[in-house]
Amino acid sequence: MSAAAEQFDAYWMPFTANRAFKKQPRVVTGASGHHYTTDDGRKLYDFFSGLWTSGVGHCHPKIVEAVQQQVATLDYAITFQVSNTRSAELARRVIDIAPEGFTQCFFTNSGSESVDSALKIALAYHRARGEGHRTRLIGRERGYHGVNFGGMSVGGMVPNRKAFSANLIPGVDHLRATMDLKFTAFSDGQPEWGGHLAEDLERLAALHDGSNIAAVIVEPVAGSTGVLPPPVGYLQRLREICDKHGILLIFDEVITAFGRLGKSFAADYFEVQPDIITTAKGLTNGVIPMGAVLVREHVYDAFMQGPENMIELFHGYTYSGHPVAAAAGIATMDVYRDEGIFEQSAELAKPFAEMLHSFDDHDKVIDVRNCGLMGAIELAPREGAPGARGMEMHKRCFWEEDLMIRNGMDIISFSPFLNSKLSDWEQSFAKFRRLLDSIE
Ligand SMILES: Cc1ncc(COP(=O)(O)O)c(C=O)c1O
Repeated sequence: MSAAAEQFDAYWMPFTANRAFKKQPRVVTGASGHHYTTDDGRKLYDFFSGLWTSGVGHCHPKIVEAVQQQVATLDYAITFQVSNTRSAELARRVIDIAPEGFTQCFFTNSGSESVDSALKIALAYHRARGEGHRTRLIGRERGYHGVNFGGMSVGGMVPNRKAFSANLIPGVDHLRATMDLKFTAFSDGQPEWGGHLAEDLERLAALHDGSNIAAVIVEPVAGSTGVLPPPVGYLQRLREICDKHGILLIFDEVITAFGRLGKSFAADYFEVQPDIITTAKGLTNGVIPMGAVLVREHVYDAFMQGPENMIELFHGYTYSGHPVAAAAGIATMDVYRDEGIFEQSAELAKPFAEMLHSFDDHDKVIDVRNCGLMGAIELAPREGAPGARGMEMHKRCFWEEDLMIRNGMDIISFSPFLNSKLSDWEQSFAKFRRLLDSIE
């Protein structure tokens, strides 16, 4: 075993082929701006901005400074029945840029926790209003809502569910995924085909009776499954059907919130107002783990009943509203505002789409998809070896082209920085093409 490999001996890595990784570890030791440094001293362009997290770049000096100051001032404070001003300030800042009607921000530590918190809030909301019969939850095939039991159950990525099949939470149905390459391949932005798939919700409401359904959760643009923008009219139609049946609509914006589509939230980009929004990642630019659930006034109000000295929602985490995470979040909001990050992101969407779609004609490519600064190139799988070509692209980009990209099977996803330089994209796509031309 090499020295580098030995270092990883005790580390069970998340969502990683551990044995293959430990034979030849891919290791970063530093980051600055739009680049990583590797353990062998190379500078890698990060075409995934962390893990959809770090939109303004790595180690932004303002965020670093805020965290350093906060950790030396109030490192932690009890979060139940006592609070700190940092979390209250961040809640205010997030609500200030949230879609109209959102008034409350509940903190978590990750996207998965945001999702499970949102599902619990939805169920408890109906109960508080005397509609405790609304227990059913609806997700979507190919959806990703994190790895906790609620999110995994409403999620629709098969390998994540397979080993836990018998223990998924009951009372969950799934809408169909919105992609069919026969009709949607090479769409630039939202596909024209697929709006009709929102009628799946009407069908499920007919099957169960809409009065038994608590909430529908979807990613406005499905991210982890390989970037599936919603078909034209789809999200609007989901909203209409939810309204008709009194169902809460949850947008899982763990990826799409904070500028990825050139607006604060995808809800604004698509002009559809959900009842609950889940976030994480861009909330702190990935610097300290933190997530948040945003709710509209009517949701919060439903809980604010009964004696004032009673806890209204028996839910929360030791680190809900952690002061250091909140300080990172406030500094991140400052950077978003002061550097016009969402505006930069909006302007970059068109050149990004053009560069991505320059791969439409490549003989190893079966689809190219994009929305805002989310993009994917789907490669044709190798005969009898699905995923092999995508993984080889990831590894060889890392080793040979000094480029960080991410693959899910044969889908290569791109999550560029919200303040990217076009020249970096040009160089990186040229490297990607060189490799794609040459691999088997
Ligand atoms: C839409 C969505 N929801 C939830 C999650 C889970 O977030 P975390 O990994 O922070 O738990 C993710 C992570 O990628 C996500 O994309």
